[in-house]
Amino acid sequence: MRFSVTVSVVAALVAGVSAWGADGHRTVGCFLTPKTLSFVQTSLGTAFNRSLGTAATWADDVKNQAAFTWSKNLHFVDAEDSPTTNSCSVHELRDCGNGVCVLAAIANYTTRLVTPSLGTEQVSEALRFLDHFIGDLSQPLHVEAIEAGGNGITVTCQGRSTNLHAIWDTNMLDVHLNTSFGGSIATYTNNLVARIKADNFSVPVSNWLSCTSTTEPFTVVDPNPNGKRDDDFGADIRRDIRGLLGLGHGLDKRAITPLACPLVWARESNLFDCATVFPVRTGDLCTGTYLANAIPVIDIQIARSGLRLATWLNELLDP
Ligand SMILES: *[C@@H]1O[C@H](CO)[C@@H](O)[C@H](O)[C@H]1NC(C)=O
Ligand SMILES: *[C@@H]1O[C@H](CO)[C@@H](O)[C@H](O)[C@H]1NC(C)=O
Ligand SMILES: *[C@@H]1O[C@H](CO)[C@@H](O)[C@H](O)[C@H]1NC(C)=O
Ligand SMILES: *[C@@H]1O[C@H](CO)[C@@H](O)[C@H](O)[C@H]1NC(C)=O
Ligand SMILES: [Zn+2]
Repeated sequence: MRFSVTVSVVAALVAGVSAWGADGHRTVGCFLTPKTLSFVQTSLGTAFNRSLGTAATWADDVKNQAAFTWSKNLHFVDAEDSPTTNSCSVHELRDCGNGVCVLAAIANYTTRLVTPSLGTEQVSEALRFLDHFIGDLSQPLHVEAIEAGGNGITVTCQGRSTNLHAIWDTNMLDVHLNTSFGGSIATYTNNLVARIKADNFSVPVSNWLSCTSTTEPFTVVDPNPNGKRDDDFGADIRRDIRGLLGLGHGLDKRAITPLACPLVWARESNLFDCATVFPVRTGDLCTGTYLANAIPVIDIQIARSGLRLATWLNELLDP
């Protein structure tokens, strides 16, 4: 199986990634090639302890500072759907018509990461944003418009009043860490990585990097429609990135973002709003059935975003 080869040849395992509140950002192990790891460590430098994990929180840390308020709306895409009536969807033009959303930001920072003429500081910034936004995309409420992604929906968690967005960003993950992993992010990360390697999730790991599992067509034209289609692990990400960096090769100019994979991944996150996040929200959500239903979603979404980020960076930096 190609996947196991891919995993065994990539040497480095970096704790970090994802973007689910302060803990989630550091939670996922990822799989970088030595060349990618070396680039990442040099670019992030000692300010982030050369770690993708600690760098992942930077975008949230700065978004309330005056110099970075422009970046606030890049952390999500406001899917104007109706999860309370079991209708979930993400549409680029409807939900990111002004080009300011996490989908556009991923395209932007993907390009900027491999534009050395921007200078090392801007390239490092691009890496920190990309790291963070690929994590944000996997949190279902970062792909939902209702009540500002659930920020306006009051819920109870461990006897305290908070909001639906916050418990998905942070609280349920904290409870999960405390209950099953002794509160240790490293133990949780190692567990997710072991489960990735054992292919022990509800969706086979070999499907995680495929970007064709959608029922809705993209506003994107295959940049190389007559070319031989790669079918190996990560091929969709490779095609996405090559298409983006080679703009003008048949990409549809109407597309807000010429990337296919992030849109598929956004739709996948958004479907959890209908399936798990919005139905039956009574009582204390950080215990009992609601939490039990949420944990598998948290696990697979954080694991997927880590593997996807690693594959994305490998394709960009070590093609
Ligand atoms: C930086 O990383 C090293 C090795 O992982 C660790 O021992 C050290 O405590 C970290 N330092 C800080 C300031 O986080
Ligand atoms: C692209 O990145 C630049 C530099 O950080 C930023 O000014 C601009 O707002 C970004 N645009 C999007 C859509 O992310
Ligand atoms: C997790 O455990 C730590 C240490 O015991 C505690 O401070 C924290 O409040 C706990 N968090 C949750 C959400 O239970
Ligand atoms: C697969 O993962 C689940 C959830 O963490 C765990 O309970 C189970 O023991 C794992 N199975 C194997 C074979 O590792
Ligand atoms: Zn964020």
